[in-house]
Amino acid sequence: MQVLFRFFKFSAAAAHRYGNGLIAYAAVLSAAFIILLAAAIRLYRKNKTLAAKSNPRDTSSTNGKTEGLISLIENLNKNASFSEALGFIFKSFAPFVPYNYIGVALVKNGSSSLEASFGISDGTIKGLPEGLMNKQYNLSGTSLENILKTGTVRVINDLKSYVKGRPAKEYNNIILKAGVRSSISLPLSINDKHIGIIFFSSNQKNIYTDEHVKFLKAVASSIAISFDKNIFVNNLLYSSILALAKLAEARDGETGDHIFRIGSYCELICHLLREDSKYKDAITPEYTFNIKRFSPMHDIGKVGVRDAVLLKPGKLTEAEFEEMKQHTIYGAKVLRAAEDNILYESGRSLFGLGIEIAENHHEKWDGTGYPYGKKGEEIPLSARIVAVADVFDALTSKRPYKEPLSFDESLKIIIEGSGSHFDPEIVRVIKQNKDRLFELYNSLKTPS
Ligand SMILES: [Fe+2]
Repeated sequence: MQVLFRFFKFSAAAAHRYGNGLIAYAAVLSAAFIILLAAAIRLYRKNKTLAAKSNPRDTSSTNGKTEGLISLIENLNKNASFSEALGFIFKSFAPFVPYNYIGVALVKNGSSSLEASFGISDGTIKGLPEGLMNKQYNLSGTSLENILKTGTVRVINDLKSYVKGRPAKEYNNIILKAGVRSSISLPLSINDKHIGIIFFSSNQKNIYTDEHVKFLKAVASSIAISFDKNIFVNNLLYSSILALAKLAEARDGETGDHIFRIGSYCELICHLLREDSKYKDAITPEYTFNIKRFSPMHDIGKVGVRDAVLLKPGKLTEAEFEEMKQHTIYGAKVLRAAEDNILYESGRSLFGLGIEIAENHHEKWDGTGYPYGKKGEEIPLSARIVAVADVFDALTSKRPYKEPLSFDESLKIIIEGSGSHFDPEIVRVIKQNKDRLFELYNSLKTPS
């Protein structure tokens, strides 16, 4: 109740400030959003308790490591996000089982496929997780399907010999090329619900023993509960964000495709920056995933701009433009209000990237943007990426007041904006990879 009270207090203040009836509509939707998140957090706490109760006490195989194992399981369930949980496993499982890489593939499409979703390496395994990330593999008739359905732990102690004489699989080639020589595949399920498979991999042959398998079997249910909780919260968060983002787009006369296209353009820009730019260390696979996920919320604050301004066909007056600029601040406020409540409840930050994108996506590299007139790298990288994606998609799209510009004309405008509107490093990688941008532009183009 306290969460709702604080939110409505915020909404009332916003409504007073903007004097807009649509705020009430936005407030109802936003309140539903907060309620769902509060429910997710309650589930998080419940699962934490459940996991603590289901701690396996049969740790005889761990040779006096019982206390370490119990503390490890308790801490596993304290991790607030999927990547934090995986990071914790990578940091803490080493005394019990050897590995150089841990990857997670999650069940998709009602258990018919697996998607390589997260991975973490000590640096000796090259090209993972990037080589596998977000690739989906059909499970039908594969040994992985068997592992998942039967709950069997698979140990491969010589991957090169294992793949000989078997049908060639792309993922086997990728992990062999990366340097993996042994692996344990541990299925993750809760009762009959299949979550996915976690892979512990080593660059050495013949490294895994029955002791390692026993340890992993002991912690499997705790890993599954921890991951399931985070998948649930992530999915809930994502659908709530999309509902709000679509509301903002709908008011602007958009169909909602714009926000999805922006996510795809941002993802491509992140890949290009990671391949060759001074930002490559900042653009981790997780950062890319989060920008794709959070970029659709960049214009959420438009719910706070009056129709008379938002939908005005002609040029805005100075005062109207000032009001329009407020969508950046208003969007950040809505998300901060939500984040404050979530932080209050759980101590975790969910909206950090969304807030910086909403607040800064109209800032310009030369300091002439709004709302603050930030310059260069004062503007968060995420917002600099979204700025390019947003403008490029606006130029190439049909709007009620304009026809779309061609790919070449739009790219020319982006290139002309290098160093003034846009970060020159982002424009450089786009210019150098024009063909890849063109390919994506064609795949996203709606038939006219
Ligand atoms: Fe905007």
